[in-house]
Amino acid sequence: MRNHSLISISDLTKEEILSLIERAKAFEANPNQHILDGRVVGSLFFEPSTRTRLSFETAVKRLGGRIIGFSDVKTSSQAKGESLKDTIMMVSNYADLIVMRHYLEGAARYASEVASVPIINAGDGANQHPTQTMLDLYTIAQTQGTLENLTITMVGDLKYGRTVHSLLEAMHFFHPKFRFISCEELRMPAQYKQACRQWGIEYEETTEFSEDIINETDILYMTRVQRERFSDPMEYEKVKNLYTLTASMLQGGKKNLRVLHPLPRVTEIAQDVDDTPYAYYFQQARNGLYARQALICRALDL
Ligand code: CP
Repeated sequence: MRNHSLISISDLTKEEILSLIERAKAFEANPNQHILDGRVVGSLFFEPSTRTRLSFETAVKRLGGRIIGFSDVKTSSQAKGESLKDTIMMVSNYADLIVMRHYLEGAARYASEVASVPIINAGDGANQHPTQTMLDLYTIAQTQGTLENLTITMVGDLKYGRTVHSLLEAMHFFHPKFRFISCEELRMPAQYKQACRQWGIEYEETTEFSEDIINETDILYMTRVQRERFSDPMEYEKVKNLYTLTASMLQGGKKNLRVLHPLPRVTEIAQDVDDTPYAYYFQQARNGLYARQALICRALDL
C-alpha cells in the first residue's frame, strides 16, 4: 500500500509531480469544493509561519474540512514537557491528517513513524520543505509553460535553505541547469552537488551575483539568509546583507525570466523589483493554496 505521508520531495515520482500540478491547476480554476466534508486536519506549527500555515488552513476550509492545532507551541502541552511522540499520537486520535512544521531536521520523518494518520511535512529545520517545492514547481510550469531544460539560479542561503534543497531534488527529473550564488559560508551542501553530478546535471557555483548570470536565467530563485539557523549571531551579521536584487539588475533579463522567493523576504529583494514584470513571488505564494489543496487530496486518497 502507498505511504500517504509527504516527508521529502523524493517521496514523489515524476508522474505524481505532474499529476499534482494538473490537480493544482484544477483547484486554481475552482478552489471551493466539498471534497473534505467531515474531515479534520491537524495543523501543528512548532516554528513561525505565515504562508504555509495560512494557505493550508485556507485549503482545508475551501475544501469543506475543519482544522485543529496550534501555531504557538507554548499553548500546547509540549510546554509542560510532553514529547513529540505523545503529541503526534494524541493528534492522530483526533485528526485524519497532520500538517507539521518543526525546527528539527528529521522531525517529520519521526512523526510519520509514530502517527496513525498521514503526515505532511511543512518544513523540518534546514532539511526539506516539500509542499513549498510543489507550489514552486506549479509556479515554474505556470510561468515557463514547461519544467524542462530551464536555467535556474539560486541565490542566498543555499546551506540552510530547505526550499532550495527540495527544489533541486524535484527539478532533477526535468534536465535543468543550476547556478548557485552564495558566500563561502552558505554554499550548497556537498551532498546536493554530488547528487547533481550523479544525475548528470550541469551546475556552476560562484560568489558573484552578476548580471551576466541573471541574463541567462529563466528562474531566479532568491532566498533569505535565515537568522534562526545560525548558532553564532556574529556569523549571521557578517553575511545577512550580501545579496540584494534590484530592478536595475534585471534590465537585460530574458522575457520569460521570473523572480521567485519562498518569502518572507528581508533585504534580498529591493522593493523596486515588485514593480517589474519579472516579479512573481506574490503569485507564487498564492499558488501555495492550490498546490496544498492537491497535496491534501493526495494524502487522503481523495
Ligand atoms: N515560504 C514559507 O514557508 O513561508 P512561511 O514561513 O511564512 O510559512
